[in-house]
Amino acid sequence: MTKVLIDCDPGIDDALALALVAGSPSLDLAGITTVAGNVDLARTTANALALREFLDLGDVPVAAGSAGALLREDVRAVRTHGVSGLGDADLPSPVRPASPGHAVDLIVDTLRDAPGEITLVATGPLTNIALAVRREPRVVEWAGDFVIMGGTYTRGNHTPAAEFNIAADPEAASIVFDAGWTVTMLGLDVTLTALVTTPVLDRMRPLGRLSTLLVPAASSYGMVTAEGGPAIHDACAVAYVLDPSLFTCVPAVVRVETAGRYTSGMTVTDFAPRDRRPNALVATSLDVSRFWDMVLDAYSRLGERLD
Ligand code: RIB
Ligand code: CA
Repeated sequence: MTKVLIDCDPGIDDALALALVAGSPSLDLAGITTVAGNVDLARTTANALALREFLDLGDVPVAAGSAGALLREDVRAVRTHGVSGLGDADLPSPVRPASPGHAVDLIVDTLRDAPGEITLVATGPLTNIALAVRREPRVVEWAGDFVIMGGTYTRGNHTPAAEFNIAADPEAASIVFDAGWTVTMLGLDVTLTALVTTPVLDRMRPLGRLSTLLVPAASSYGMVTAEGGPAIHDACAVAYVLDPSLFTCVPAVVRVETAGRYTSGMTVTDFAPRDRRPNALVATSLDVSRFWDMVLDAYSRLGERLD
């Protein structure tokens, strides 16, 4: 059993990542924290609460976090995720409220209470994670593993140089990458191969009640690539936790550009560092066939449970 805490900005692919968690009995979800990103904090939190109930995630605590970046103006992705943040998916309104505490406190307290046991997963801007590291630097020791969907060592999607999660809060990402732990970075380099092609979408259709989330969400996810179908970026972070062998990861030094006029948010990745030890494991390939087999098996299990 692997315990995970997920910091996210749901967001269509965040939702599909949480569905992967819900369909994976080997994962024990210790908490969900939310951050502003794809849509504002009120919406990411409302979506996390709705997903907790729709995905039958039980009494997992959900805590709201940062409403904006440390320094930068708001960056949102409403064109990609829709005004609701879940595209055309229309989930029942949540009944249970968020926990009263702040996300940063939930992250610090959860990791402190189970040192080395919990994998911290971030699938949104890293503002909450940076604040947690600032509030309690020992979180880098307490986290069993730290896995993010974010960054790129090739092309960006928010700008030519930067991936959205990093570009939304470069200062936070810089704090996080320099905190002293090893960041497992699932960047666009691999996540852009995890495409919801038509055959994949067709395998989501017969999953009963779960398909009322998966199909409209994936169908309206406005990041259709040239190869066809949107990429479910965030599910790659959860897939790594479930089976790291799906990926090839290479040690590297990653530095986040915070001053560049055209390169702000760029994850400058050095695979042959000469001046410092690696601070990241950077994913360079994904076995896409095995990825979809695992994801769709999990969705099928979850679909049976929800019906
Ligand atoms: O660049 C993709 C990332 O940005 C994903 O986490 C998506 O949800 C958006 O937040
Ligand atoms: Ca996200």
